[in-house]
Amino acid sequence: MISFKLTLLSTIIFSSAAIAQHTSLRSGEQWPDNNGVHVNAHGGGMLYQKGTYYWFGEHKISGRGGNAAQVGVHCYSSKDLYNWKDEGIAFQVDTVNANSEVAKGCVIERPKVVYNKKTGKYVMWFHLELKGKGYEAARAAVAVSDKVTGPYKYLHSFRPNAGKWPLNASASDTTEVAGGDASIANRPGNELAENGFFLRRDHKGGQMSRDMTIFQDDDGKAYLIGSAEENYTLNISELTPDYTNVTGKWTRIFPGGHNEAPALLKKDGKYFLITSGCTGWDPNAARSAVANTIWGPWKSLGNPCIGDDAHLTFHSQSTYIFPVAGKKDAFIFMADRWTPRNPIDGRYIWLPVQFEQEKPVLKWMDNWTLDFFNEKTAPKTATGK
Ligand code: GAL
Repeated sequence: MISFKLTLLSTIIFSSAAIAQHTSLRSGEQWPDNNGVHVNAHGGGMLYQKGTYYWFGEHKISGRGGNAAQVGVHCYSSKDLYNWKDEGIAFQVDTVNANSEVAKGCVIERPKVVYNKKTGKYVMWFHLELKGKGYEAARAAVAVSDKVTGPYKYLHSFRPNAGKWPLNASASDTTEVAGGDASIANRPGNELAENGFFLRRDHKGGQMSRDMTIFQDDDGKAYLIGSAEENYTLNISELTPDYTNVTGKWTRIFPGGHNEAPALLKKDGKYFLITSGCTGWDPNAARSAVANTIWGPWKSLGNPCIGDDAHLTFHSQSTYIFPVAGKKDAFIFMADRWTPRNPIDGRYIWLPVQFEQEKPVLKWMDNWTLDFFNEKTAPKTATGK
């Protein structure tokens, strides 16, 4: 009996040690969840609901093929942003029907969830690639749930804005070049984007939609921001009032600019965008931009990162920016440090978004707390890298 009690006691002590409370944000390290397992929510997004943050992201597996969707979208919850509880798989791939658009082995990237007040539903958007087709489908996909943690039910996937020209299309954007578009098809991609070639090519079937985010504005409208035109152009599309489709009102930004990994925030009525360049899983220099309305015009603000490894976004790629509840002008930049040879081990880089001369600025901090946002005027305690 005594030995049983001792065993029980040591089990309790051991388990509480295994789930030690976290008290700060440590970018680049393993982030153990409530079970002591590194959080598996890559390319993620955040939803805040009644005192709880919900983090949704790509569930990766180890080794080859680990980037494809073998499982689905993983959800975690937290009240303090340091300690994460595993809420399980919010959206499951289809393991029964191999012909399903979301069959096991498809590609599901950058899931983002928004809550729709009008319908009372949670709406998940993600970038979908069909199984065995590489990255050629380039679709946006939607799934819905009555409960924040799921299960999310698959609704549909599509290339947005079929048959609709963007708000900022010029006459030449919508008109084939003299001699026909086929005559310029082998020009460099950035030229073709600037010229409107991809826009016209995809007009009928819908524009490509790869790396994406969803931005919910304070007036209740929401937008899909996604890489289109072979990743040369970023498109912003208004969502329908129930958030499950696009309305056909949309705009193109930076045609030929080669932007991926979009993340948005709104501060003092202005919209700020952070993106990456296009180098696959390898990091590159981030870019930033500002606009007075979501429809632009967007003005480029250059690389928001400052300090060592700023040219590589501190070895990461943006995925989302979210406001910290209850703190003014407090935004957290979420990014991924991808590890394509063992995708499950990808790390998370979270940094506060600072503002200097009306520009968003990111500085490396390897260990910080939300108190940072209370010390706006004090010098920042960056610990270096
Ligand atoms: C990155 C993109 C990721 C993933 C990857 C595949 O550029 O941001 O989400 O698509 O390419 O190579």
